[in-house]
Amino acid sequence: MSLTGKHILIGISGGIAAYKIPELIRSLVKSGAEVRVATTRNALEFVTELTLQTVSGHAVYSDVFAAINAHATEHISLPEWCDAMIVAPATANILAKMSAGIADDALTTTICSCVARKPVIIAPAMNDKMWENPAIQQAVRTIRGWQNVSVLDPDEGVLACGTSGKGRMPEVEVLQEAIEYALAPQTLAGQRILITAGGTQEKIDPVRFISNYSTGKMGVALAHACARRGAEVTMVCGSMSAPLLNPYGRIRRIDALSAQEMYNACMEAWPQMSSAILCAAVADFRATEISTEKIKKRAGQESMTLSLSLNPDIAHSLGENKKPGQRLIGFALETEAEKTNALSKLERKNLDAIVLNSLREEGAGFGVDTNRVSLLSADGNSKELPLLSKSEVAESIIDTFLR
Ligand code: C5P
Repeated sequence: MSLTGKHILIGISGGIAAYKIPELIRSLVKSGAEVRVATTRNALEFVTELTLQTVSGHAVYSDVFAAINAHATEHISLPEWCDAMIVAPATANILAKMSAGIADDALTTTICSCVARKPVIIAPAMNDKMWENPAIQQAVRTIRGWQNVSVLDPDEGVLACGTSGKGRMPEVEVLQEAIEYALAPQTLAGQRILITAGGTQEKIDPVRFISNYSTGKMGVALAHACARRGAEVTMVCGSMSAPLLNPYGRIRRIDALSAQEMYNACMEAWPQMSSAILCAAVADFRATEISTEKIKKRAGQESMTLSLSLNPDIAHSLGENKKPGQRLIGFALETEAEKTNALSKLERKNLDAIVLNSLREEGAGFGVDTNRVSLLSADGNSKELPLLSKSEVAESIIDTFLR
């Protein structure tokens, strides 16, 4: 999602995970945002003021009484300036202070004047024993009850002290995704959207399968964009290498490697869905028999023939079972007579719209971060989009077909 023109305020408290925040700032700036930083004194033991100032391009607010701030009231003006604030890492100390409304330094005064007015995201990070402390858990429950504030769950894994447990700060990409959730228009709130993504794998024997080049990037971009806009997403995933970010658990992931498994999962989910976007590259045929043993080549064997049987067409079946009000969007990847083939597919499968990819286009198709598509709808409207990031293509599909 583009963050051009957005103002993001980052609050850093004194935990080891603070060393990751310059990366978050760089990533936000790269997405077009302007970033400012407020910290506790302790945070600057973990990450230097100079680093934060250099990557954000702004002075860091860390001392209420520093000479530079003598006539300014940053704890009021920064929250007014920002579109969203993230506190990362949020230590046990900051959570306890926040929940009680304590404002005794640059960061806590800033948070105190921000929570009632702007979206605030909290990313707790601490040792697992501190996270389990009932006072901290109570603080988190209190904060979660506030209207504008969301608290991310810490990740499980190796902690700074060497032990393993729940307490790691979520990765920088997840923090950015959480910020994008806070800024996205909630145009899909209350909707349930089914998305298929990735390529299917059709087993031949215990060590081989038939598949395709799909990496799931377009499906992941769609799932992210729908979830950001407030939808509950059910994502049926074939083989996928694209990472799925799910900061608030709004995406329910079902792994279904074969076309038949994907079909079963989709047919079960479809009656409860408002819409479906079928982005997966589904194998049309599967091996008629899956060998229980590894198929071996015999001495002197020059060729082999594999018998294939037709797979169910998920899009077609969902189209047959479509209820009034449900919207069904398919994808088409054609190498010849592209528009004609896509439109005939749209009609045959009872789709409301189809997204036409062309493999001929430079920068479009499998594995890349960009795509060039045409949006064709059943009412005869069509729109050709320029080469865009898959995330921008996803936004455009939603704006055009899911309004
Ligand atoms: O017929 P074709 O495979 O080209 O159709 C593409 C569209 O149909 C895509 O939306 C794809 O996800 C979907 N499809 C499906 N089940 C199949 C084959 C394709 O849902 N067995």
